[in-house]
Amino acid sequence: MSGWGPSPAVQVRALTRSFTAKGVLNGIDLDIAPGEFVALLGRSGSGKSTLLRALAEIDHEAEGSGEIRLPERLSVIFQDARLLPWMRVLDNVLLGVSGQRARAGEVLAEVGLAGRERAWPHELSGGEQQRVALARALVREPKLLLADEPFGALDALTRVQMHALLRRLVDAHRPAVLLVTHDIDEAMLLADRIVLLDQGRLAADLPVALPGAGVARRARMAELRATLHRLLGVEDVAEDHTEAAPPPATEVRYG
Ligand SMILES: Nc1ncnc2c1ncn2[C@@H]1O[C@H](COP(=O)(O)OP(=O)(O)O)[C@@H](O)[C@H]1O
Ligand SMILES: [Mg+2]
Repeated sequence: MSGWGPSPAVQVRALTRSFTAKGVLNGIDLDIAPGEFVALLGRSGSGKSTLLRALAEIDHEAEGSGEIRLPERLSVIFQDARLLPWMRVLDNVLLGVSGQRARAGEVLAEVGLAGRERAWPHELSGGEQQRVALARALVREPKLLLADEPFGALDALTRVQMHALLRRLVDAHRPAVLLVTHDIDEAMLLADRIVLLDQGRLAADLPVALPGAGVARRARMAELRATLHRLLGVEDVAEDHTEAAPPPATEVRYG
C-alpha cells in the first residue's frame, strides 16, 4: 500500500487484556499507517472499547500485557461529548491546550460552530455538542484520533451530517483514525480498512476500497456488507430490499 511512512502511526503487538480472570483481548496485533482510517467492528461485548481504552491508556482497571506504540499527540472522543458544563464552548475546546484562542476559533468554524464560542454546553443540541468534542480533539492537531462510537447517541439525520463532517476534517488534518462502531455502513463509508474483533482476536482485516460512485460503488458496498454480516453472524436482510419496488409516489401539494 502506498502512503506508508517510515513507521506506522500505531503498532500493537500481542496485546492482552482481562478483567478479574475474564479474558477480553487475547493477542491483538494491529498496525495503522499515518493518515489511515481504520474502523473497528465487533459484536456488543467483544472488547472494542477495551481495545480503544488500552490504546488511550485509560484502562488502569484492566490487566494485561503486550506492546503498544503510539504517536505522542493523540485525541480521544466518546459517545457523549463530555463537555464541562460550567465552561463556555471556546474554553471547552481549549481544555488541555494553552494560548490557542484564535486557533480554537478557527477549528470551531471548521466544525460549523462559528459564532457559538460563548455559548454554554447546555444551549447546544447533542450533535452540536459532539461538534465541540471534535473541535477539542482537533485543536491539538493529533497524529491519532481514537473514537469510541462517537455518533452512537445521535439521531439518524444528524449522524449522516456528522459522517460528512468527520470525513472532511480527516481529509483536512490527516490524523490516523481508529473508529469503534457497530454500524457497518458507517464503517464502510468512512474507513479505508475495517478490522473485526471476535473472541479476543482480530478475526478479519478488510480493505474497503469503495469506487467513487454509481453501480460499482453500490455493488462493492453490498458485497462488503454481506461479508461483514456473515463474519458477525447476522442474517443479511439487505438483499431482500434491493429489488423491492419503490413505494407508490403520493402527490403532495402545499398551500
Ligand atoms: N471495567 C470493567 N470491569 C469488568 N469487566 C469489564 C470492564 N470493562 C469491560 N468489561 C467486560 O469486557 C468485555 C468487553 O467489553 P467492551 O470492551 O466494553 O465491549 P464492546 O465495546 O465491544 O461492547 C465485556 O464482557 C465487559 O463486560
Ligand atoms: Mg463499547
